[in-house]
Amino acid sequence: MSSIRKIAIMTSGGDAPGMNAAIRASVRMAISKNLEVVGIIGGYSGILHDQYQPLQLRSVANIIQRGGTILKTARCAEFLKPEYRKIAADKLRAQNIDGIICIGGDGSFRGAHLLNQEQAIKTIGVPGTIDNDIFGTDNTIGFDTAVNTALDAIDRIRDTAASHDRLFIVEVMGRNSGFIAAEVGLAGGAELIFSPEYLFPIDQAVSQIKTAVSKGKMSSIIIAAEGQKSGRAYDLAEAIRKKSGFDARVCILGHIQRGGTPTALDRVLASRLGAGAVEALVNGETNCMIGINGTKLVKVPFEEIYNNKKENSRELIDLAQVLSL
Ligand code: F6P
Repeated sequence: MSSIRKIAIMTSGGDAPGMNAAIRASVRMAISKNLEVVGIIGGYSGILHDQYQPLQLRSVANIIQRGGTILKTARCAEFLKPEYRKIAADKLRAQNIDGIICIGGDGSFRGAHLLNQEQAIKTIGVPGTIDNDIFGTDNTIGFDTAVNTALDAIDRIRDTAASHDRLFIVEVMGRNSGFIAAEVGLAGGAELIFSPEYLFPIDQAVSQIKTAVSKGKMSSIIIAAEGQKSGRAYDLAEAIRKKSGFDARVCILGHIQRGGTPTALDRVLASRLGAGAVEALVNGETNCMIGINGTKLVKVPFEEIYNNKKENSRELIDLAQVLSL
């Protein structure tokens, strides 16, 4: 017999398309197991400010196709301090909440890990971030949708780039990782992909563009992950101009990549992970994420996520370069 009777679901960090599908799956799986469910509104700060909303079967109707998150989300600086985590745990206990499902990225999992280690609150993570930069899971919820959104934009840019014989630099999201850049670059036929993991010398970029021009290629697309600061594509354009005289147009896709209807792939992933998280809690699991490895759901301890870094595929980046000539 499980000791879990009441659970809370929250979304935290940057939103990602498919989070609603995960919320729906967790709520419905929990109710099918006779659990009481509440949503925490606004991530960790919702716990600190007693923002709870009871969730029933119908509360999650018609959300599987919606981007964003009905539970709202935030990045909560207070939660970095142990005294606030203690307040949060006391508040959760006062609500008789036996376990939390946290849908978010690695920053959100750190909060869930510490809440468990310091305050013995049962926590399960569901990977939800467009960046796909979480170790232990092949994919995160929202990544596929973000890649397709960016790809759609790049296809449009290609039309105008070809008409004007222009060089474009398209900046995609990815603060510490270039997973979106690598996929979008290969799928969008880009000449070069700049990712935070593999820095590409400007001289090499310039010589690649010159080679392309010498082979009769009059328009090119470079994909750059934003890295630590959005707007990096402008610096890149300036550096290329100084070295070569090529005048690159810049397009920053920004938060467009975080919105919109989740793809089928993201909905399926979110439904499986959201439901799997409830099953894990009921089976006594805690302090881990439910991820996907191949076609199977896997449990990954939070510590393992921090102690390892998910490798971006250099192969995709190199292949894009060879195929673009
Ligand atoms: O973590 C997801 C992400 O979209 C990153 O790719 C991006 O750098 C960051 O969030 C932007 O955060 P914010 O919405 O707080 O500006």
